[in-house]
Amino acid sequence: MRDRLIVALDTDDGEDIDRLSGTLMDVVSWVKVGFQAFSALGTEAFPWLSRRGHKTFLDLKFHDIPNTVARDVGTMTKHGAQMINMHASGGFEMMETARKRAEDVSAENSVPMPILLGVTVLTSIDENGFQQSFGSERGLTKQVVYLAQLAQEAGLRGVVASPLEIEPIRKACGDNFVIVTPGVRPAWAETGDQRRITTPAEAIQRGADYIVVGRPIIEADDPLEAAEMILEEMREA
Ligand code: C5P
Repeated sequence: MRDRLIVALDTDDGEDIDRLSGTLMDVVSWVKVGFQAFSALGTEAFPWLSRRGHKTFLDLKFHDIPNTVARDVGTMTKHGAQMINMHASGGFEMMETARKRAEDVSAENSVPMPILLGVTVLTSIDENGFQQSFGSERGLTKQVVYLAQLAQEAGLRGVVASPLEIEPIRKACGDNFVIVTPGVRPAWAETGDQRRITTPAEAIQRGADYIVVGRPIIEADDPLEAAEMILEEMREA
């Protein structure tokens, strides 16, 4: 399970990142670097975290014209990000162009091809929020599945979605499609702004390949103990 829990290092304080990654290096493989951690570490994040035995999920959720996103993803591939995401709503051409650029950069620089993911609908958005913000007739779950299929057709390896949508995504995209789920809350943790949530055990039972947890671990009095409790819950599931 240590390879399936991704801890979100959501802080811009270099000392905090140092402390957290040092504390967790023996129990967790993957860490997630978003804008905050990236502002503190820059592209040094990848070799630095790798020296501690961590794999890095770069969560900058790219969303721009195809040429720009392809260059962004190419640059981050070259620097050694092992998982990179982009908004699937950026469109088929954006995702396909980015995937091709990553393949080219990976081959030219002899660096591993990162796992490329499409972000479907943020887990902080519920059905009401979805209708309000997107005005779509389709409904939230159908939109998630539609975007997952679009990401798959563009050649991405998987998606970021809520654990509540794993089943319909699996049905549409198959067992080899990677599903990464934030929106995970142990029963003992606060929900915060997350809306479409399950516990870690339920996310694993539903078939998540990776679960992402931030605040319940990084804001805990004892982050190591919190991570170990979540890992235990995942193992039991
Ligand atoms: O603190 P928490 O466990 O809610 O952290 C979840 C992490 O996953 C945050 O870094 C958030 O930005 C990220 N994320 C998310 N929903 C998505 C994609 C990423 O919550 N759809």
